[in-house]
Amino acid sequence: MITEKWAHLDAAMVASSRKTIKELFAEDPDRAGKFTLEAAGWMLDYSKNRIDREVMKELFALARESNLETEIERMFTGEKINATENRAVLHTALRNCEKDAKVVVDGKDVMPDVRAVLEAMGDFSDSVRKGTWKGYTGKKIKYIVNIGIGGSDLGPVMANLALKPYSKRNLKFHFVSNVDSTHLAETLREVKAAETLFIVASKTFTTQETMSNAEAARSWLIEKLGSKDAVAKHFVAVSTAAGEVAAFGIDTKNMFGFWDWVGGRYSLPSAIGLSLMIAVGRKNYARMLKGYWKMDRHFRSAKLERNLPVVLALLGILYSNGYGAESYCVLPYDQYLARFPAYLQQMDMESNGKSVDRDGNPVECLTGPIEWGEPGTNGQHAFYQLIHQGTRLIPCDFIGCCRTHNPIGDLHDKLMANLFAQTEALAFGKTAEECRAEGVDEKLVPFKTFEGNRPTNTLLCDELNPETFGALVALYEHKIFVQGIIWNIYSFDQWGVQLGKVLAKGVLDDLTADKPSMRHDSSTNQLIARYRKAIGR
Ligand code: F6P
Repeated sequence: MITEKWAHLDAAMVASSRKTIKELFAEDPDRAGKFTLEAAGWMLDYSKNRIDREVMKELFALARESNLETEIERMFTGEKINATENRAVLHTALRNCEKDAKVVVDGKDVMPDVRAVLEAMGDFSDSVRKGTWKGYTGKKIKYIVNIGIGGSDLGPVMANLALKPYSKRNLKFHFVSNVDSTHLAETLREVKAAETLFIVASKTFTTQETMSNAEAARSWLIEKLGSKDAVAKHFVAVSTAAGEVAAFGIDTKNMFGFWDWVGGRYSLPSAIGLSLMIAVGRKNYARMLKGYWKMDRHFRSAKLERNLPVVLALLGILYSNGYGAESYCVLPYDQYLARFPAYLQQMDMESNGKSVDRDGNPVECLTGPIEWGEPGTNGQHAFYQLIHQGTRLIPCDFIGCCRTHNPIGDLHDKLMANLFAQTEALAFGKTAEECRAEGVDEKLVPFKTFEGNRPTNTLLCDELNPETFGALVALYEHKIFVQGIIWNIYSFDQWGVQLGKVLAKGVLDDLTADKPSMRHDSSTNQLIARYRKAIGR
């Protein structure tokens, strides 16, 4: 159905297809400055896209037709926009640094609780960092093991690496997520029980992987230290579910809470970030929250035309829904951001991987893209060939930091030169004539020609620090929100993960039972039988 809204996309497509990026640059030497924005320490150069003023005008009209501005307010003010779970979506409250801010959900201001948990996290982090928190045998904590999965793992893992230059190096951090026993076993080989703190991080405290790993870790600790009493000094919990935490055997005095209005994949700035706060300290953690908040304020108040998350989202819509691009690549040229693409995968694909609209009808457009990426320059020697010369259109975000925390010779200049050169190559390519002028053998000309016209965004900050890091995460959170609004889907539920979880329980019964039911299809039955035979069951 062509609504008013999608008519703007059609118009944007018509305008966008008229000229190549190369032609657009040739006709306007000042183009870069016209398509560059700045907010919260980040510069976004989006000039190397298939856009001009007319294309952008239609895209902003598409956003306005989708009531974007109203929807942004609905999120920030705590309306229950996660309708299928009847929840507000308020990760922005977690980093609201405005003094005396009030954010009301169900008639209650949530900010006092947010501040109280942050304070408790700060005190606890201080005690671990200073060594005043002692293990059962009186030793200081040296190893911190976060046990969680999905949003309760990816955020902490990613941020712990991103902010490593700010972390206390004599503390050693480990993250156990997979129910594959190898993950826990290999981690336990690296730590000493008397000096280890386990953080069991789970919003629900019922997730199979996390609870199984936590139970196994608890048994290991009791065996190593010889008493159940050791658990209180070596286990803390981060959760919304006090009852479940108590049932597991962790004193709720040692629990750091959050709330159902924080989605798992948006939970890094909640108590889920406890391991990060222990690593970088409460001051740096507060700086990170400030960075998030700066981007939140920008997103909430800037005109759509000057709004970084909105512009990124609209460009993504142009390529997904206009050009049919199926995937989207995020390429951080900073080793500290090595896990950022994996983190974004959950944030984007669990949020917008939906095929039913808000009225419960099948969507009529492509929704969330397949998100992927690796740090540069490594990716250049792996998959960039396909981006440059393959048959698919893959829009890319390049992320770079002007200053490095680790200057060694001219390595950083080389890193950044590669980043900038890749965006240049993707946009402008190389024609057959240029190849010939370089003396390329005629037979090789088709292979050495680069079509170009490959769209990229470049995000640059002066330095990756807690503030710019927080702002970067918030930028992508809001981008994903905007796309969900335009696609008219619910971005904050994740029903699609349920079926596999339920079926796994039935399969587990059949893997372990004396007499398996074998009530599955012939393929699944065969796999179960093969497994049982191999392990002699
Ligand atoms: O299975 C998906 C999911 O529910 C994610 O949304 C979430 O981040 C992850 O599992 C972990 O959930 P929990 O924090 O409740 O253990």
